[in-house]
Amino acid sequence: MTKVLVATVKPFAAQAVNGIRQVCEKAGFEMTLLEKYGNQEDLEKAVADADALIIRSDKVTREVIEAGKNLKIVVRAGAGYDNVDLEAATAYNVVVMNTPGQNSNAVAELALGMMVYLARNGFNGTAGTELRGKKIGIHAFGHVGQLVGKIARGFGMLVYAFDPFIADEKIKDHGVVPMNSAEELYKECQFISLHIPANEKTKESINYELLSSMPEGATLVNTARKEVINEEDLKRIFQDREDFKYISDIAPDYAPEIESNYRGRFFFTPKKMGAQTAEANINAGIAAAEQIVAFLNDNDTTFKVN
Ligand code: 3PG
Repeated sequence: MTKVLVATVKPFAAQAVNGIRQVCEKAGFEMTLLEKYGNQEDLEKAVADADALIIRSDKVTREVIEAGKNLKIVVRAGAGYDNVDLEAATAYNVVVMNTPGQNSNAVAELALGMMVYLARNGFNGTAGTELRGKKIGIHAFGHVGQLVGKIARGFGMLVYAFDPFIADEKIKDHGVVPMNSAEELYKECQFISLHIPANEKTKESINYELLSSMPEGATLVNTARKEVINEEDLKRIFQDREDFKYISDIAPDYAPEIESNYRGRFFFTPKKMGAQTAEANINAGIAAAEQIVAFLNDNDTTFKVN
């Protein structure tokens, strides 16, 4: 019998797991669950007899691919697949897919929610500021970026975007002002919301030069990946600019230093929370299961990334 392993250190909502099971059983597949596992060896053991694997931010290393002797497909239930060794997967003929757009709304809502929280001084009883009328720059205008733009417009913000892969006309269709470069975007906007993927080109690309060019009251919002930030430069900006604030859906390495020195100028989630809603889990989890069925039964490779 075809086996689908769902391996998530950070578990899906129960309804999502039930939905995945139903899709698998309808196709005559068996679903097994490995949640909150402690180390990579647990994943390597569990994947040994799996034909398909559904993961979230779980690390699919070369060792995991090699341990999955029957493995044919890995689906990252979510957007970013920087946690999967694509080279190893390709070498072993394992197809890798993501589920683009399925958890985007949860991430976009969190970005705006954290912005309100920090603008209102963590709801501590003092007078904060409003988002209306402020400029927000969306760095990469994909699924999440577009939704952040839509919600920000609802708040009455002025929305700008830079994305070298999306035509200006398409950006304008969303009521958003296209910019020609990241430099231009950062110079113009008090708020910057990051939605670039983590890859060799983008790692540590958010640097001192960009951040220091932002206008008074600069706030960087990171619901993308911590790796895209040059953390040494971020530290320098915190020191150099008293007005600079940083919001991130995952703390930087030196969070304790920021937390003790720059009170009121940051907010970090304790754990990556962007996609952690029942709806996002259901949408991404079920899409992953359906993509596995479509691939194994009909060789559908629509969302293949390797
Ligand atoms: C994604 O890339 O889809 C998000 O970062 C969500 O990651 P998660 O599934 O680990 O919460």
